[in-house]
Amino acid sequence: MRACVLTYGCQMNEYDTHAIQSQLAGIGYSFVDHVKDADLVILNTCAVRGKPVDKVRSMLGDLRKEKKKRNLTVGMMGCLAQLPEGQEIGAKYGVDIMLGPGAITEIVPAIQRGKFQSYEFKAELNFYTPPPPKDQLTAHVTIMRGCNHKCTYCIVPTTRGPEVSRTPADIMAEVETLRAAGVLEVSLLGQNVNSYGMDHGRSEHRPVLDGFPSFAELLRMVGNAGIPRVRFITSHPMNFSEDIVYTMAETPAICRYIHLPVQSGSNRVLKRMAREYTREFYLERVRLIRELLPDATMTTDIIVGFPGETEADFQETLSLYEEVGYDMAYMFIYSEREGTPAAKHFDDMPHEVKVDRLMRLIEKQKEWSWKLNRSWVGREVEVLVKGKASEEGFMQGHTRGNHTIVVPQSLAPKPGLYRATVTHATPHMLYGESAEVSARSVAARLEVLGAEA
Ligand code: 5AD
Ligand code: SF4
Repeated sequence: MRACVLTYGCQMNEYDTHAIQSQLAGIGYSFVDHVKDADLVILNTCAVRGKPVDKVRSMLGDLRKEKKKRNLTVGMMGCLAQLPEGQEIGAKYGVDIMLGPGAITEIVPAIQRGKFQSYEFKAELNFYTPPPPKDQLTAHVTIMRGCNHKCTYCIVPTTRGPEVSRTPADIMAEVETLRAAGVLEVSLLGQNVNSYGMDHGRSEHRPVLDGFPSFAELLRMVGNAGIPRVRFITSHPMNFSEDIVYTMAETPAICRYIHLPVQSGSNRVLKRMAREYTREFYLERVRLIRELLPDATMTTDIIVGFPGETEADFQETLSLYEEVGYDMAYMFIYSEREGTPAAKHFDDMPHEVKVDRLMRLIEKQKEWSWKLNRSWVGREVEVLVKGKASEEGFMQGHTRGNHTIVVPQSLAPKPGLYRATVTHATPHMLYGESAEVSARSVAARLEVLGAEA
């Protein structure tokens, strides 16, 4: 029995794909990369924007043709499977198994029953502890699911439901398993990790309640568990409390990488998005981060062309980008999602306007990424090398700040942790060498940069 699981969308989906694969492996499935070699194809779908939905639709069209020729079971899971839109698509293309993201541990019974539809959230079905990994240097650990915010553009609260935290005992047990298996970097995952434990009655200012620590406290526990690198995604500025910044400053294992989605720099747009904070509040958080973690890498998510966004609003987003100086940004064109408050109350704007703004924002992003990447030239960094780079004789990895970096194989013969000096930077990545050989090339490189600057 051969299965092919295709993943669309976010890291949460990637984690769920692993969870599904290990459950399928438990009943004898092996895995193939191509649909044509599989008896079972599962699409782990995303519904956050229109594009990933279109991709799923077109893949299901191909699979329907394939099904006519041979015995093939098709499953759909993830956020789209949870929505009425997904149910319609599933019925139209003859999907056999539908599983919402709140039911990932139901895959085996679903296959055994042949047909299974689950649109109910069941907290106890939310989490799955995978078996220890083999030869894996990085791993994700889900600490919570769902989102209690109600951003008007976002379908996630509908598909993934309210916030549910995983117990600290389960999280720490999984972290210990990963440490013992030699994992060097763990990423804590959730739609809004900063509000960890709040579904158990704690708040930012109350102590541990019901056995659930605050996110900052959990971060400290994981940071002291013996794994050299700890990361977390995603944060919400409203819940990114000061104690998280202090914990990061005090705990060496926690990578100084902060992904803090801003979405827009205009207070008027932020209000229409129901983001719950102002530009000034956001910048105050950034100020604290810069003060306590001066070398932190900061990235963000930005939506352009939200309904009613004027050129002046967009200019505020550009100026906020300058004020923060992001290392990188994930930039999205607003995509109207059926069932969201924004779709109901606001009118979409012409596509050309949105594309034009996106292009200008991308220019801004490139400018800043290159500028900040260049500031690393001459500095020593820790590199987690994961495998071969596309160039012969080179290996690829990432720094603690999450920059992609390429180093010679002579410095890093096999995957693992190394130290390198950055010798060269592009808007997209860094290049490093060992400390001995780098002094000369850095001097030469800095001269060139001087000429470019
Ligand atoms: N249109 C465009 N981008 C969206 N995002 C969420 N919903 C939408 C939408 N309807 C973006 C946000 C979020 C990221 C995961 O996806 O920027 O942070
Ligand atoms: Fe969506 Fe907003 Fe929740 Fe993020 S915080 S998942 S954008 S509702």
